[in-house]
Amino acid sequence: MGFENIIVNAAEGIATITFNRPKALNALNSALLAELSQALDDIAADEDIRVLVLTGAGEKAFVAGADIKELAVLSALQAKSFAAKGQAVISKLCELPIPVIAAVNGYALGGGMEIALACDFIYAAESANLGLPETTLGLIPGFGGTQRLSRLIGPNQAKEMIYTGKMVSATQALALGLVNQVMAPDALNDTVMQTARAMAAKGRVSLRAAKEAVNNGLNTDLATGLKIEQDGFALCMVSEDAAEGTRAFIEKRKPVFNGRFS
Ligand code: CAA
Repeated sequence: MGFENIIVNAAEGIATITFNRPKALNALNSALLAELSQALDDIAADEDIRVLVLTGAGEKAFVAGADIKELAVLSALQAKSFAAKGQAVISKLCELPIPVIAAVNGYALGGGMEIALACDFIYAAESANLGLPETTLGLIPGFGGTQRLSRLIGPNQAKEMIYTGKMVSATQALALGLVNQVMAPDALNDTVMQTARAMAAKGRVSLRAAKEAVNNGLNTDLATGLKIEQDGFALCMVSEDAAEGTRAFIEKRKPVFNGRFS
């Protein structure tokens, strides 16, 4: 499928999706969300892809939110359906069986910040601003922001951001634990790619099991989470990746993982 609102590239086992509506600060309209959903299906099905990076076209924005011009005319039922569609795509992103890094190069607002929150972690340019400004529009976050932001930085900090609609700078976001690293804008791509390559060199099976253990464990109590970890550990153990990884250690060489089960 050819895409008009996103650009998808892949090299060295790392896929990149670039949100590409720079004139509208990469705002999420229905067409973009449908393309994102399709691209995520394609990436999930491609066993050569081990890491996904999301970023925005242009120098100003990662994504400045849902497309307000499209939103403004919705009835209540249409708004519910729009939120359900957005949440479905963002949940698909969250559950993608490979690590996903958000490379936030500018504004990540509303639905844009909600996309970044569904990634495994965020690296941000110093020039980035993040926020959930929906209350300024008389709305609330509709693509998972009330839930994922509270879980990530705690309810009190999340409530302050949501109730005031204020943006935080990349440095403030770092202090809040919202982003993992902040760097000069021209260093963002290289730093993200360096981390992506480090992860892509690991076994596909262990990356997937680790992601599932953290994500599914957070949705349950500690005892159940520890059981999930045990199951993931056992699954890894019977993969060719575990055989290769342990053998490579003993033979004092770098492992080469194939992600298979014999
Ligand atoms: N939807 C549609 N168009 C948008 C947009 C959005 N979310 N954000 C920016 N644009 C458009 C502007 O309308 C403008 O287009 P025109 O040139 O045709 O007028 C263009 O992008 C450039 O924007 P500005 O001129 O406003 O740029 P600025 O530098 O002065 O301000 C900004 C930048 C502070 C990000 C400002 O654009 C802004 O506040 N944008 C809206 C942010 C927002 O409220 N996002 C939440 C959306 S609702 C949501 O996401 C709901 C949900 O949870 C799913």
